Amino acid sequence: MIDDAKLSDISEWKISSMEHYNALAKGYDELYGEEQRRKIDFVLKEFDLKDKNIILDIGCGTGLLLEKIYDKNKVFVEVDISEKMLKKIWKEFKDEPNVLLVQADADNLPLRSKIFETTFAITLIQNLPNPKMTLQEIKRVSKKGAHIIASGLKRKYRIDEFKSIFEEITLKKLYDIENLNDYIAYGIV
Ligand SMILES: C[S@@+](CC[C@H](N)C(=O)[O-])C[C@H]1O[C@@H](n2cnc3c(N)ncnc32)[C@H](O)[C@@H]1O
Repeated sequence: MIDDAKLSDISEWKISSMEHYNALAKGYDELYGEEQRRKIDFVLKEFDLKDKNIILDIGCGTGLLLEKIYDKNKVFVEVDISEKMLKKIWKEFKDEPNVLLVQADADNLPLRSKIFETTFAITLIQNLPNPKMTLQEIKRVSKKGAHIIASGLKRKYRIDEFKSIFEEITLKKLYDIENLNDYIAYGIV
């Protein structure tokens, strides 16, 4: 049970995160595009999306991942707390009926359970007050056997701390690649 004081701390945390990314949205690709694309390229070399048709991208930001994996035969649900980050995706993908944009908090997804075959959360979880809880929510919306690929900033965690976030799914691989600023976890629900 979360008491009112704690709930208000969590709400403030989320609102401040949203404001931070709203303010950053315009310059985000210029500031972080190269760094994020390196992480995404690594992830896409490791994971084959061939048979995965319903994909969730939480903390999708400006759509750097979507740009690389877009396919008219798949469904993409792009979730972010920041409206201004999402607007950048909307500009590019507004005419694609298989790209759904959802402004929401990763801990309270307005989505039905057991839908997704793959979920990405690239450089998201260090923004959340309780990443284990976020993983529970990702697990809820995932089909059994679905893949989860999540990364988090190394400067925010020791590797054992990062690993412990994934205790409740089957962690298949944990990457600590020298030239990437994130640890990357690959697990199965
Ligand atoms: C570091 S950016 C990463 C964006 C994108 N995944 C990429 O690789 O470029 C983190 C993203 O998480 C979003 N975010 C932060 N807190 C969130 C929350 N509670 N729920 C959903 N998205 C959140 C931010 O708005 C931002 O777009």
